[in-house]
Amino acid sequence: MVIGATGQIGRATVLALAEDGWDVTAASRGGGRDAAWPTTVREARLDREDDAALAAAVGDGCELLVDMVAFQARHARQLAALGDRVGSAVVLSSVSVYEDDQGRGFDTQLEPNGFPRYPVPIAETQRTVAAGEVTYSTRKVAIERELLAAGDRLPVTLVRAGAVHGPYCRTPRELYFVKRVLDGRRTRVLARGGANRFHPVSVRNVAELVRLAAARPGSRVVNGGDPEAPTVAEIGAAIDSAMGFESETVLVDGPPPEPPVGLTPWDAEHPVVLDMGLAERELGYQPVTTYADSLPETVEWLERRLRGAAHWREAFPKMAANYDPGGDLFDYTAEDAWLKLKR
Ligand SMILES: NC(=O)c1ccc[n+]([C@@H]2O[C@H](COP(=O)([O-])OP(=O)(O)OC[C@H]3O[C@@H](n4cnc5c(N)ncnc54)[C@H](OP(=O)(O)O)[C@@H]3O)[C@@H](O)[C@H]2O)c1
Repeated sequence: MVIGATGQIGRATVLALAEDGWDVTAASRGGGRDAAWPTTVREARLDREDDAALAAAVGDGCELLVDMVAFQARHARQLAALGDRVGSAVVLSSVSVYEDDQGRGFDTQLEPNGFPRYPVPIAETQRTVAAGEVTYSTRKVAIERELLAAGDRLPVTLVRAGAVHGPYCRTPRELYFVKRVLDGRRTRVLARGGANRFHPVSVRNVAELVRLAAARPGSRVVNGGDPEAPTVAEIGAAIDSAMGFESETVLVDGPPPEPPVGLTPWDAEHPVVLDMGLAERELGYQPVTTYADSLPETVEWLERRLRGAAHWREAFPKMAANYDPGGDLFDYTAEDAWLKLKR
């Protein structure tokens, strides 16, 4: 059973499991299905907040429970309580659990000198922020701790995913470059010399990690990343290439010169790069796609989605809320003014 089956990761995961021979129930509140799933996949309407409904959906039991939407410690306890009826679980966590050696993490990134300076790459042994109820990251840590402590009842693989990308993403960072190409913007400005890195992971690679973990139940955490962590300049070039476009990139040293000019959704003062060695050793992880190879499908989906909407904010409301609360992510006037002054 996959909870959160119609989201970006869920769609790819259900497909990967079904193709691997699993008999999958795909659960979400809407109870929808993906056109690519084989007909053997059963869709189910389920709100995981309802403990009784979740227990009923699991029924006499299932061999594997995959949870895309565990956001609170309560959800971990809910899963652990089903341990007598569930063979093993795979639960999505996040790179944002990590803390650097000076106690900085994603929660401190906007504070002065608050951006974490992680080792490159970050191994799963890197310390994490304290478990808590206040932020996304502290709650993810609480979930991890609860589930690892319940390992004798329910073996759980926790996947600490990087920046997830693919079709059906509600916060598609790729939109930043795709929309510029569609708008015919030839010039773009990238801060930090275009060199900053935030490890991406394709939904297909997350699905592969789930598939592998499903075949090797155990209590563990593994990072979830693509085979490479491209720089933001490389991401822009890869999107240009996928769209048959050529941009001129103006690189600026240091932080965005006049935000939003030079600011992208991948902005990171220091690299966030995941060590995928443990996933390789422990699960036999071999990525099924690369960032560049996965792009055409994502770009096509983004274009389709934009065509069906009056405004990009209507097509991607969560992206707008998370990355563009000020409404200036595509402020070409500010960018043109800055470029004119600079030249
Ligand atoms: N996006 C990233 O860059 C990123 C990075 C690291 C980790 N993650 C982790 O990835 C997970 C999110 O996966 P995703 O990006 O695939 O999510 P998503 O695209 O937002 O999809 C969420 C899915 O969960 C379903 N859902 C939401 N609430 C539910 C509920 N109460 N009961 C049952 N189903 C519910 C949704 O369908 P309905 O609305 O129909 O219920 C949908 O199928 C999270 O655990 C997140 O922490 C994401």
